[in-house]
Amino acid sequence: QQPVQLTVQPAPAAKTTISKHIYGHFAEHLGRCVYDGFWADPGLNVPKQGRIRLDIVEALRKIKVANLRWPGGCFADAYHWRDGVGPTAQRPRTINTWWGDAVEDNSFGTHEFLELCQLLGAEPYLAANVGSGTVQEMANWMEYLNSNADTPLTQQRRQNGHAEPYGVTMWGIGNESWGCGGNMTPAYYTDVYKRYATFAHNYPGSPPLKRIVSGANGDDPAWTETCMKNIPLGMMWGLTLHQYTLPTGDWGKKGPATGFGEAEYFSTVRNCLRMDAIVAKHAAIMDKYDPKKQVALLVDEWGVWTDVEPGTNPGFLYQQNSLRDALVAGTTLNIFNNHCDRVRGANLAQAVNVLQALILTDKEKMLLTPTYHVFDLYQVHQDAEWLPVQFQSPEYELGGEKIPALNASASRDKSGAVHISLVNLNPNQALTLQTTLPGISWKAVSGRILTSAKVSDYNSFDKPNAVQLADFKGAKKHGDQLVVTLPAKSVVVLELTPT
Ligand code: AHR
Repeated sequence: QQPVQLTVQPAPAAKTTISKHIYGHFAEHLGRCVYDGFWADPGLNVPKQGRIRLDIVEALRKIKVANLRWPGGCFADAYHWRDGVGPTAQRPRTINTWWGDAVEDNSFGTHEFLELCQLLGAEPYLAANVGSGTVQEMANWMEYLNSNADTPLTQQRRQNGHAEPYGVTMWGIGNESWGCGGNMTPAYYTDVYKRYATFAHNYPGSPPLKRIVSGANGDDPAWTETCMKNIPLGMMWGLTLHQYTLPTGDWGKKGPATGFGEAEYFSTVRNCLRMDAIVAKHAAIMDKYDPKKQVALLVDEWGVWTDVEPGTNPGFLYQQNSLRDALVAGTTLNIFNNHCDRVRGANLAQAVNVLQALILTDKEKMLLTPTYHVFDLYQVHQDAEWLPVQFQSPEYELGGEKIPALNASASRDKSGAVHISLVNLNPNQALTLQTTLPGISWKAVSGRILTSAKVSDYNSFDKPNAVQLADFKGAKKHGDQLVVTLPAKSVVVLELTPT
């Protein structure tokens, strides 16, 4: 195969930053994400602060979780925040009707979540209950968290151990309001949104709220169009989009997380690549109403959704995570980076033990998934200056269908170092890249790689490091050119040291 000619362009005149919030995560009261995930049983022999697992915190701190979305998902529109504050023994037991009818003891509530965020160094991103809550309930939650006035609600917060306001700024107003959040029409939701947003108050001394509209289901332009048309720009900081990757594309039989063949690998990565066109479509609609790009698009649920692991509760959405997931993650993050003028937030679903998880636990044991390692590699892009990358991708062909084998994104950080993230989706063929970087002077290249013998390889509790990062030796400086041999089925991030 001919070498791929790749150019990393200088930053465009209208400089664009890759928001660190693209590197956000999601923790729903679902299956074993919170309970038996972040929040350990008191008797579990792991390092803990209260009941927060510190081995998980330590791992996540390393990849710089920009924000953490909570308490859902579908659960958010059934959640009543008062159930989760005050003395634990007095908190009611409720039923998680969305996820396996699990009994929710509410031991993990608002204060515990905000303590977790503080330990992680992550910004909290709360989802308010629009589906089964009230405007007053949401407004009270905001006052409880953000006001410094002397009121019964703030006194309650102080009694519950937090004297100072928390200043939580990121607020989703509902979740999937077209579905589990209330099955609303877009026109009805936009009226409801405006009502809620009107009472989402900024409190003196707390930073202004970022009010976020519950956005479209995948490829549904009508929802975005109606939101942008009906909601004044000043009333929304962001608008969301949910787009999952199903291996088969069929919700009834999504395909297994491991043990799949090349045909299912191919359809998974093909489906994941749809994210680019879907984001572009929603961004174009937003441009019509908001040409100055004031409103952020937040893809606040994305990731691979497979069948659950055999023998596990179908309502708990527990799935393994293979090199295939890592290739999807690297590709999707490249897509988000390259749309960073509009995509200014994203949340992988979900952080621990649910869907495309970063971390899996089994009692005291914990492992880092291949997807975790991609977030480790890509953290260099957080809040860095975006650099456009141009190339003609070779094709990866299977059964007469073709998709681009290569995807990439690049950025320059505050020290001047340039980072290029490259994904080769072809599981059978390495690629050679000849890269020019006009206007960028650099003296050395280093890198790290994630790959494995098979795209279905994964980390198990017996072999937790089967798929792990390694130093990458396949990039060389030839004069001003960077020559890279990118192995089959790999994610590589290169760092170019400035002169
Ligand atoms: O992430 C799992 C679920 O997927 C969320 O609760 C919901 O918002 C989406 O449908």
